[in-house]
Amino acid sequence: MSNTADLIDLTDTRIFENRAHYEVFSYLRENSPIFWNEPRRHQGFWAVTRYDDVYACYVNHQGLTSTVGPILGGSYGSANTDTAANKMLVASDLPRHRVLRKLVRITTSAPYVDRARTETRNLLAAALDKVEREGGGSVSEDLSLCLPMGALMAIFGISSSRARELIAMTRSMIGIEDPFYGGSLNGNELRLSSIHADMLGFFDDELEYRRDNPSDDFITYLLNAKVDGYTLTDEEILFNCMNLAVGGNETSSYTASTGVFLFSEHKSAYNTLLERPELMDDAVNEILRWASTNCYVLRKCTRDFELNGTTIKRGDLVTLWNVSANRDQEVFRDPDAFDILRTPNRHLAYGHGVHRCVGAPLAAMELDLFFRQLVDRKLRLEVDGDVRWLRSNFINGPAILNVSVCR
Ligand code: HEM
Repeated sequence: MSNTADLIDLTDTRIFENRAHYEVFSYLRENSPIFWNEPRRHQGFWAVTRYDDVYACYVNHQGLTSTVGPILGGSYGSANTDTAANKMLVASDLPRHRVLRKLVRITTSAPYVDRARTETRNLLAAALDKVEREGGGSVSEDLSLCLPMGALMAIFGISSSRARELIAMTRSMIGIEDPFYGGSLNGNELRLSSIHADMLGFFDDELEYRRDNPSDDFITYLLNAKVDGYTLTDEEILFNCMNLAVGGNETSSYTASTGVFLFSEHKSAYNTLLERPELMDDAVNEILRWASTNCYVLRKCTRDFELNGTTIKRGDLVTLWNVSANRDQEVFRDPDAFDILRTPNRHLAYGHGVHRCVGAPLAAMELDLFFRQLVDRKLRLEVDGDVRWLRSNFINGPAILNVSVCR
């Protein structure tokens, strides 16, 4: 690459849409591993790109706070004053984080996971029957969305049409710069606020309903929950419902779509899985690493510290790039290759440390179910037409992916 680091702007989401980010991160890992992204569309921030440095930041809970919120430019407020700070799990620090985590973790307990498995299996079976009958279809629209739909129906005890409504909101939020979701590169603040308000309104309706109609769902659980004598305010309940919806809807579905894309591109890997379905766990882990759907997480520095020779100053924003760490050639042999036999595979797709994805067991179940159904049916899906990748530097995967059934 002939450009110098000065020309790189990681907030230009078109780099990710065009898949140029792998080359950019390879350059940064080599030449400027802790890279200062000049203020352009947002305030300036550090981008940490090597595996060991990303890992070190993940476990530096004292020096790096999460209360700035999860997304550059602020998803739930401005980058300095996040309204969800210490109320929403992902935007909270210890010791408050521990209390919230204890509550949210209920969604990965056996009753919830079993229910999610049943809902997802039924939805997927119907969607795959249709794809088989019609000789193809849309992975991004019809197949992958079964995963968050099943999870939402199980967690919140809502109907499939309510789950679809919610997914439309999280999709527009994550695709806020993507033309496919009506987004644009600039001037999204108002639209983002309005999506947030709609989402809070959605959960507020559910909350009011559950007050009079308690059930075995997450909202009823939060309404009654006491941890260390503490009950949640309505605002905290709404924020944490949003956290689950945004955390779960976009990640597992884009990861599943990326997996379908990968197996279409790497037919020998799919043949191996057909012959040896016991490799499913390894295959899913490799899809997680390769996809790194949640590209980065955001932190803010609470006190000056040295990171691999660079001084990070109190108040600086710091981004940890999973998508780059998971391609670090110092840790992963032939990192750009898709290798379902890769071992060890200590990817950081779910993050690390106290904030490591609380939904990971649910996501693992969903992805296992998804690819197992393809394998059980011996279904070969081949990419049909152009793949359009999401215009986002936060969550990435195919926004449009159509397939035909290969007999
Ligand atoms: C392939 C699927 C998924 C990926 C790649 C993924 C990725 C991540 C990552 C990287 C984090 C760390 C955030 C941080 O350190 O700031 C995280 C946290 C989180 N994820 Fe996931 N996630 C996935 C699926 C899910 C699912 C299915 C749910 C719930 C239904 C979920 C809910 C959450 C929540 C609530 C947090 C915050 C945890 C905390 O702050 O303690 N995620 N996820």
